[in-house]
Amino acid sequence: MPKLFKNILITGGAGFIGSNLADKLLQENYNVVVVDNLSAGKKENLDKKVKFYKMDIGDKKISKVFAKERPDIVFHLAAQINVRDSVKDPIADAKANILGSLNILESCKNYNVKKIIFSSSGGTIYGSASIIPTPESSPEIPESPYGIAKLSVEKYLNYYHKGFGLEFIALRFANVYGPRQNPKGEAGVVAIFTDKMLAKKEVVINGSGKQTRDYVFVDDVVSACILSMKSDKIGIFNVGTGMETDVNFIFAEIKRLTNSDCMEAHGQENIGELQRSCLDFAKIKNSFIWTPKYDFKIGLEKTVIWFKNKK
Ligand SMILES: NC(=O)c1ccc[n+]([C@@H]2O[C@H](COP(=O)([O-])OP(=O)(O)OC[C@H]3O[C@@H](n4cnc5c(N)ncnc54)[C@H](O)[C@@H]3O)[C@@H](O)[C@H]2O)c1
Repeated sequence: MPKLFKNILITGGAGFIGSNLADKLLQENYNVVVVDNLSAGKKENLDKKVKFYKMDIGDKKISKVFAKERPDIVFHLAAQINVRDSVKDPIADAKANILGSLNILESCKNYNVKKIIFSSSGGTIYGSASIIPTPESSPEIPESPYGIAKLSVEKYLNYYHKGFGLEFIALRFANVYGPRQNPKGEAGVVAIFTDKMLAKKEVVINGSGKQTRDYVFVDDVVSACILSMKSDKIGIFNVGTGMETDVNFIFAEIKRLTNSDCMEAHGQENIGELQRSCLDFAKIKNSFIWTPKYDFKIGLEKTVIWFKNKK
């Protein structure tokens, strides 16, 4: 039975993943409300049909937005996303990522939101996993305050579900890449390399470049979000491709796609950086019939074209 709902609220909806999700929801004729403090996101990422509130997720006035907009579904994506910043200042990270999330959960409870979909992190929650690709059943031993905060919010989701009936899905994203990713943060090596190579700047690979990640294209992540919204299921799901790609390969591919003459240069390895990360997506495949549609090379091509047109 399809569920009847219309009003969707996205926290962090002016950012990379959130704005791509907002576009898709508008195409499907939902009413979309975005709450974002614009610390990283941009208003120009938002379609005119989106109702926008510039507000921090920690702000108590969030409850007024819920009272007015009465969302049926909340996608909670707003976050401090920088792992290294979370190491430098775990208190600031916890304020945004744990207390801010609790503020959202309280409003979800008080205004009868049906379901919350949370953007968790498969790249940090498992720590140095012994099984690769890593399934959801692996132990969660995050090695950064950022990963600890994501895991904490998952535990709160379970608490609000058991205590108050709030339905939830936590999507543990792998490394997401694609159009609108901010090349200034540490989050996206694809965005950083593409931006620099197009600007004819030098690119430095941290360490050997042999460290691997699981790169998932943003359109695939958006489709996992929408399937989660429409499903009756509750729980935690990895969103990845099961494929490992190393940084040296990304460097070479982006160099080719941007016709750059950038020389391969290696800098110091980031201390404590995971050597391998890759997610098993069997659970979401079986539950939602979701599989990643974009091969990495095709996703990269689309991303580079977007960055070229943006210049
Ligand atoms: N990009 C990835 O590879 C990846 C991987 C795993 C999880 N995630 C999670 O997905 C979500 C979206 O990430 P993204 O890559 O689109 O990053 P992003 O920085 O583009 O988006 C985050 C948005 O949240 C907003 N924001 C930040 N702090 C806020 C606050 N306190 N109050 C209100 N708004 C705030 C920012 O302005 C930005 O628009 C985040 O929760 C992130 O942790 C991303």
